[in-house]
Amino acid sequence: MNRNLALEFVRVTEIAAINSARWMGKGDEKAADQAAVDGMRKMLDSIECNATVVIGEGERDKAPMLYIGEQVGTGRGVKLEIALDPLEGTTICATGGYNATSVMAIGQENSLLHAPDIYMKKIATGPDCRGLIQINDPIIHNLERIAERKRCDISDLTVSILDRERHQELIKETRDAGARIQLIGDGDVSSAIATAIPDSGIDLVVGIGGAPEGVIAAAALKCMRGEFQGQLVAIGEDQVERAANMGYENLDKIYHTSDLASGDVMFVATGVTDGSLLKGVKFRTGGATTHSIVMRSASGTIRNISAEHTFDRKPIY
Ligand code: FBP
Repeated sequence: MNRNLALEFVRVTEIAAINSARWMGKGDEKAADQAAVDGMRKMLDSIECNATVVIGEGERDKAPMLYIGEQVGTGRGVKLEIALDPLEGTTICATGGYNATSVMAIGQENSLLHAPDIYMKKIATGPDCRGLIQINDPIIHNLERIAERKRCDISDLTVSILDRERHQELIKETRDAGARIQLIGDGDVSSAIATAIPDSGIDLVVGIGGAPEGVIAAAALKCMRGEFQGQLVAIGEDQVERAANMGYENLDKIYHTSDLASGDVMFVATGVTDGSLLKGVKFRTGGATTHSIVMRSASGTIRNISAEHTFDRKPIY
């Protein structure tokens, strides 16, 4: 993949972030998401590539734009697959909370897992603890190995877990093991990435979240040489059916980082609201400032891009 494509794609998350950030704190999740989708869709078509959305806003009959299977880009140039979430953390944005982002992972054909829109059991950690985690081990064993590698006590480690009823037992086991917990309301992609950022204060992510977000997080961790493991989980009849429709009958398989994102992948994200990884969009008269991160697995380069946008010279806004 042409390395410059990564810099092209950051324009896509930038506009999605700016559009949705206008809805910050307005209590309207749908409008915030729609604004991000509209911006992302428009900008994608200006990029010289022949890409298919493999993870997007949903199935074709449910999502008019950025649906699974939709072709985006100019249609010329290299064939790509895209996993995207125009607004990761719709509730966060609608409530003006912490860590809403616009994210995309890009790979060559057949590089990203075409995950159904169901849940995924996840475990993720940074490069310093690669090779130490096992998704189905008791949490204490994962924590013991991480503490040993980091030469600290379990009580010095922080685990990020989505604050959900289904995690009550996991939260108890983590507390019993002695680790600190960061309970998050939403946005487990940012938490997974945080494990690979040395001073983020997050050592491990565990729990059940969205499968699409799992693929996107795995692509980011692949670029950062972290580790992600996932196992599809279908909760409710709906999800069982959705998984079966996409050919996922047996949900026992454990997916490792490279099963979810293989080959040369890119990851781009722009902050919508302030977060641990990215600053949110700041508006000023006639423009806005965005903060994005761009990564490529081939080089391992992580670019932080701060951009000053001037609206009257960019009619797309
Ligand atoms: P949305 O952007 O679709 O609101 O998803 C946010 C999120 O918190 C993800 O980060 C996470 O993987 C998933 O939702 C968890 O799903 P649920 O809210 O159903 O537990």
